[in-house]
Amino acid sequence: MKTELKFESAPSIATELMVVLAADASTSKDKDASAQPVLLTKDSAIAGADKPVLTSGEFNASICEALLLHSPRELKSKRLLIIGLGKLSKVSVQEIRKAAGAAVRFAKPRGIRQVTLILPELEAVSLPAAARAVVEGAFVGDFDPDTYRSDRKDRSIEQFTVVAPTAADKKSVEAAFREGGILGDSQNFTRALVNEPGNVMTPTIMGERAAAMCKEQGLQCEVHSTDKIKELKMGAFWAVAQGSDEPPALIVMRYEPPSAKKDGPVLALVGKGITFDTGGISIKPADGMEKMKYDMAGGAAMLGAMRAIAQLKPDVRVIGIVCAAENMPSGKAYKPGDVVTAMSGKAIEVLNTDAEGRMVLADGLHYAKQLGATHLIDAATLTGACVVALGMVNAGVFSNDDATYEHFHKALEISGEKFWRLPVEDEYRDMIVSHIGDITNTGNSRWGGAITAAMFLKEFVDETPWIHLDIAGVAWMEEQKPWIAKGPSGVAVRSIVEWVRSYAK
Ligand code: BES
Ligand code: ZN
Ligand code: ZN
Repeated sequence: MKTELKFESAPSIATELMVVLAADASTSKDKDASAQPVLLTKDSAIAGADKPVLTSGEFNASICEALLLHSPRELKSKRLLIIGLGKLSKVSVQEIRKAAGAAVRFAKPRGIRQVTLILPELEAVSLPAAARAVVEGAFVGDFDPDTYRSDRKDRSIEQFTVVAPTAADKKSVEAAFREGGILGDSQNFTRALVNEPGNVMTPTIMGERAAAMCKEQGLQCEVHSTDKIKELKMGAFWAVAQGSDEPPALIVMRYEPPSAKKDGPVLALVGKGITFDTGGISIKPADGMEKMKYDMAGGAAMLGAMRAIAQLKPDVRVIGIVCAAENMPSGKAYKPGDVVTAMSGKAIEVLNTDAEGRMVLADGLHYAKQLGATHLIDAATLTGACVVALGMVNAGVFSNDDATYEHFHKALEISGEKFWRLPVEDEYRDMIVSHIGDITNTGNSRWGGAITAAMFLKEFVDETPWIHLDIAGVAWMEEQKPWIAKGPSGVAVRSIVEWVRSYAK
């Protein structure tokens, strides 16, 4: 999808589809009061164009509601699509991002290849913020997961144009527009990786995709396999990997801007890259097991984030680490009751081989510290318990340090992604005490499973400021929405990038 930003008068632009956003300006608290849709543009030709339809009661401007008009008299465009943002008093960048995605998803099945969207003029949302959101949203809407359909028609939008008012501050709108493109495109890069089936996306292939991306983006990259993992004494990572015929991959990416201060922070992004999670010897039920191809979504998020960072060039050093392995049952697989020694020297008693994500991350986090990380963030489809706690709306976020969490919380305000903080407290530590070794890889009861998993990771993080993202419930969209297809969501990429940028000068 090519993107373009124009500072022009929208009616004179020839395009297949012009999109204008609308909101419901009615203020009555009475639920039954009729909506008062208004178009969010100061362009009088457009604003006045569709009075009859706006007052007909057929269109309420509710969130992502769409209304299509053909051959609008006042415009050069072939069609005019009006998309609702809901109540005017509640409109934020979130609704704008979704509306842009919905516009793209409206156009695609109709064979429309050019979409032009008029930036909404609102008091509550600045033009740069809106510009960024619409581009992000358009990319998100443009992704479809049917890669392997034999009759697939590539319905990708060829050209997405944003029209800003001529009076806008060009520089800031342009910068935001560019950022939105980088972030949306990188989110889709992650989604494409997560979408791949387990037979295609093996740890080796994940390593190759990472290396290719790094080469393209000018990042340093090393991909290690079995020998190095053993040499580094990554006993927890290897325990998981040893059950598969597919060799593991330890992906290490580096972004080192020359301008970054020598004694400045070094941020490490550590991702769970389980390319397929059968559960291992503690095997999962057959029902739904096919979904476990997305158990590398945390790792893929780190690849997407590194890709965006390489393009946005923040003034801070970043290391990306992905621990990729396949969790399989076999004659070589690790077993419940096994005791393995992690790279940090801690002895882990394996109670359940399906709690493999925390095993690979234990060594990934420790390694990140060895490489000089001052701040850690990890992302993983770690626990079903997190899905029980938060459903498929919010992901879980954990932190051992309020200041670091504050950086992430601010990042969420920009990214618009939904994460809910859950506790990391010593009282939970009792639940992972081992009688034979140092810690167990699952809690001693099923309660608080997302928290005991976080407590396990904390053992390998120690005092280093750290954020843990459990994205099990939100990395895969179980249903399509007007603005996004069913399938991989690419969650966490945008928030991680904003978190990183918050440490730049
Ligand atoms: N990959 C799963 C977690 C998961 C569940 C991801 C649902 C996406 C959707 C993880 O490796 C796992 O199996 N965790 C176990 C841990 C348990 C054995 C302590 C779980 O959550 O059941
Ligand atoms: Zn598992
Ligand atoms: Zn898993």
